[in-house]
Amino acid sequence: MEQWTLLLLLGLSFIVRTGQSAYCNGKPSPDAQQNLNPISTGPPQLLRTVTNGKVYTVGEGEDSFKIVHVWGTPYEMGYAQGTLMKEEANHFLDDVWTYLEEQIIQAINSTVHIFKPWFLQDVANLGLEEALDLEIDITRRYTGEYFFEEAKGLSDASGVDLMRILRIHMIGELTKGHCSMFGAWGNAVLKKGSLLQLRSLDWNTDGPFKDYPQVTVYHPSDPKYGHAFANIGWTGWFGSITGYSSQKLAISEIGVSYPDATFGRESRFGIPFTFILRDILQFDNTLDDAQKRMSTAHRTCDLILGVGDGKMQAFRGVEYSASVANFMDDTNMMPEADWHPKINNAVYWGMDWLCPGYSEVLARQLNKYYGNLTAEITIRDIVSVVQSGSLHIAVYDFDNNLVYVANAKATYESGPLDAYDRQFVRLNMTELFMEKTPL
Ligand SMILES: *[C@@H]1O[C@H](CO)[C@@H](O)[C@H](O)[C@H]1NC(C)=O
Ligand SMILES: *[C@@H]1O[C@H](CO)[C@@H](O)[C@H](O)[C@H]1NC(C)=O
Ligand SMILES: *[C@@H]1O[C@H](CO)[C@@H](O)[C@H](O)[C@H]1NC(C)=O
Repeated sequence: MEQWTLLLLLGLSFIVRTGQSAYCNGKPSPDAQQNLNPISTGPPQLLRTVTNGKVYTVGEGEDSFKIVHVWGTPYEMGYAQGTLMKEEANHFLDDVWTYLEEQIIQAINSTVHIFKPWFLQDVANLGLEEALDLEIDITRRYTGEYFFEEAKGLSDASGVDLMRILRIHMIGELTKGHCSMFGAWGNAVLKKGSLLQLRSLDWNTDGPFKDYPQVTVYHPSDPKYGHAFANIGWTGWFGSITGYSSQKLAISEIGVSYPDATFGRESRFGIPFTFILRDILQFDNTLDDAQKRMSTAHRTCDLILGVGDGKMQAFRGVEYSASVANFMDDTNMMPEADWHPKINNAVYWGMDWLCPGYSEVLARQLNKYYGNLTAEITIRDIVSVVQSGSLHIAVYDFDNNLVYVANAKATYESGPLDAYDRQFVRLNMTELFMEKTPL
């Protein structure tokens, strides 16, 4: 690393929190409607097969999306995706880059507020590419080598510039999103003792993400590369924000813009959260493994994470920052507030940490359907009424090994914009993980 970079790092090192306890604005519309779309349950249809890869389409009409299966080493899996999805990967990664550039210009003009202030400072000082390269440098030693190998495979097969792929994968760490989650089990759910988990992603529905939804199913060829897991996101994107593994672990995530003092400090020096979440899906066998991983990691920014384990039917929410990793169940859920009441056998957060407007509606809906909670109720009466999950949503039904996915309206589609108002597609994870290697 060059000397000036080191100096810059020292100068920027830790982001110390100043203001405390602001609350997030906004709440769902009181006129929010139920989502009465039928759930699509048809089997995936095979489109193409290549060495180490198959692509299917699943779902009906406009709400269909791609399922890409890849096998082999990290390089081979990246290469297979780059071959199968060459055109889409080129379009998507170009579009994300253009979008990022536009957003940065607007952010520097103070009309867009999705970026962390220290990142804008870096861009102002260094330029966009150099600021992202600095971020890659800082986080490299905390990042699994498989990530760089997969990127290389994707680049070699698709022709997308390797550095562009790496730079785009820093975006999670640099931007702020709002999201919601819950875990519900025991007496809260219809089938007593089973586990149900929600991941609602509220993020840029004006950007290119909504046009390239994809579920990528990884089938590593050797246990040293982990076990099979499904990454729910977009073409050419292999950080994890949403996903489900063959070990029945699943992830939820909320970016925190309204923390309280219990979060302590943030840091840039550590593992980007999209990689730690992927490590949980790819390498961890139990909730306990995931807790150990998060406790001992060099953590970075303020988040609420959620991990469910369908083998134990257990879920923990995690207050996550450079300073803390606090694991929460229904007995110690925070923050403690009248708008965030404890619910027996359930934990939840609506949009942020200090976010009364959404959290109280989420609590209300969970209580209203208490004891009857299912994936169908979550889709019909919870995400739609809480109005959370603009870009995509996954509802994890561990007992049946099913995941329900909806995506925002793409530019080429019609109907409502937000994923929570659109048709959900049911994925049978047992079948996805049993998919046969192409001959
Ligand atoms: C940013 O602000 C400058 C100065 O006000 C203006 O000339 C420019 O058009 C703005 N750019 C964008 C993308 O809004
Ligand atoms: C729960 O489901 C049962 C049976 O479907 C129904 O009779 C009951 O009214 C439901 N309760 C709530 C609160 O929805
Ligand atoms: C999912 O697939 C498995 C294996 O084929 C099957 O036994 C199970 O019934 C399927 N689940 C649903 C809900 O169709």
